[in-house]
Amino acid sequence: MLNRAGLRCLKPSIFKQTKSNLIINNSNILSVSSRLSKNNNINQSFNNGFLQSNSKLNSIISLNNNNNNYYKRFYSNENKTNSNEQVKEEEKTNDNSSNNNEEDYKEPEQSKGNKKVGNWLLFSCGLVGAMIVIGGITRLTESGLSIVDWKPVVGAIPPITQEEWEAEFEKYKQFPEYKRLNMGMTLSEFKEIFFWEYSHRLLGRVIGVAFFFPFVWYLKKGYINRSLAKKLSVVFLMGGAQGALGWYMVKSGLDEKLIQDRGSDIPRVSQYRLAAHLGSAFVIYMALLWFGLGLVRPSALSPAMMQKLKSAMSTLAQQKSSFTIEKMKKYSHQVSGLIFLTAMSGAFVAGLDAGLVYNTFPKMGHQWIPDDIINPKIKPAYKNMFEHDVTVQFQHRVLATITYGSILALSAFAYRGRLALSPKARLATNCLLAVGTAQVALGITTLLTFVPVSLGAAHQTGSLTLLSVAIWLLHELKKLPK
Ligand code: HEM
Repeated sequence: MLNRAGLRCLKPSIFKQTKSNLIINNSNILSVSSRLSKNNNINQSFNNGFLQSNSKLNSIISLNNNNNNYYKRFYSNENKTNSNEQVKEEEKTNDNSSNNNEEDYKEPEQSKGNKKVGNWLLFSCGLVGAMIVIGGITRLTESGLSIVDWKPVVGAIPPITQEEWEAEFEKYKQFPEYKRLNMGMTLSEFKEIFFWEYSHRLLGRVIGVAFFFPFVWYLKKGYINRSLAKKLSVVFLMGGAQGALGWYMVKSGLDEKLIQDRGSDIPRVSQYRLAAHLGSAFVIYMALLWFGLGLVRPSALSPAMMQKLKSAMSTLAQQKSSFTIEKMKKYSHQVSGLIFLTAMSGAFVAGLDAGLVYNTFPKMGHQWIPDDIINPKIKPAYKNMFEHDVTVQFQHRVLATITYGSILALSAFAYRGRLALSPKARLATNCLLAVGTAQVALGITTLLTFVPVSLGAAHQTGSLTLLSVAIWLLHELKKLPK
């Protein structure tokens, strides 16, 4: 039997051609096989392997030839050496064998309920994404401390009359941000910062309503199964906790004692709480995206077809594909984890205003590692990683470089193993590379230009987009047979 080791002794170009020939035209197998053995001195058992696996290849070919558009389109696209006649020949073969177990290969029926629930989850995910972006703008415009109390229900109504506005402004004047930073602020300036914090909180309420009522409705209609219901309940509870966490974060910027404890003269929220708030928002966003995609774009292969493909995988070409897909899945999980980690380190950069020191790139000032990377006043020393702006910025640079390097490596691996991937998985990999490149460029520009609101917000949106593409890639890979 032809095994993976045997395969490795083939030149990549020959392997590639061999694989496409195997899949495209059954009759080519014998000629390919004999050509290989002549050219590459591969032993007889290698040839026998092809012959023995002939029947399995037949099943792959018939799978390809039936409803599995994805494989058909994919392999015929790949086989650039194929002449037009070969393509016509292939289509003829497809027609002949297409009456085989037609039912088995049907794409799974997309139930109306699934589609509705999936679209609602993706819509909720979009709302959470908008919430994250507005949260970023709120922070960048230093508006986050403008509403000094937390009234989840009545707080939905903003001040309307002049008296109400003045009363709200008076409340704000009692807190450290006004006293230390904004002394002399006018009412109309206050209205501007109020607008962003109010919009952020209002959208949070809208999301709660837009999630809860359809959830109950779809549950009643039986569109949501038990397992998904449990998961979505957890997401809903996380959403509620997110509101409380937001207030806990804001409080850290209102409380004089907490500000002094941090040894800071500037009233700003705790970077730990900011990172927790952002991290939890990212987790909610990712969960909604994952569940939504699972319903809107379920596996393109029916379980029966998936099973047949798996059993046909004992052939060499399929073993190689399976190997590539498994590796891709593993690497993509790692890359997604790295993106998340880099984003969390970005939250510390934002929380400490660490984008306002060392505004040079690639070096920090004239050095790769600046002399003041450790602040001796911060004890124990490891706390520099979370509390010293220079260290935090340095970490973000290093993590971003590792993340980008891993995206490049993943793209190279995907390119080498592209035959094993579906067109959608390859598209997702290409998008990951494009968005990753844009995100790094945006990060550098944000740093060099001293974090203007527009670029800071764009950089934060970029991290969300990058994470979304990584999740999409994981989803596309999940659909490929193991
Ligand atoms: C994979 C690459 C990257 C990711 C996922 C990422 C993610 C993030 C995130 C999530 C934030 C927090 C934004 C906020 O809460 O407002 C942030 C902030 C920041 N990042 Fe990145 N980043 C990346 C690369 C870079 C690079 C290469 C640089 C520059 C060397 C950079 C510079 C900054 C700066 C200066 C901030 C602070 C912006 C602010 O104060 O709002 N980032 N990053």
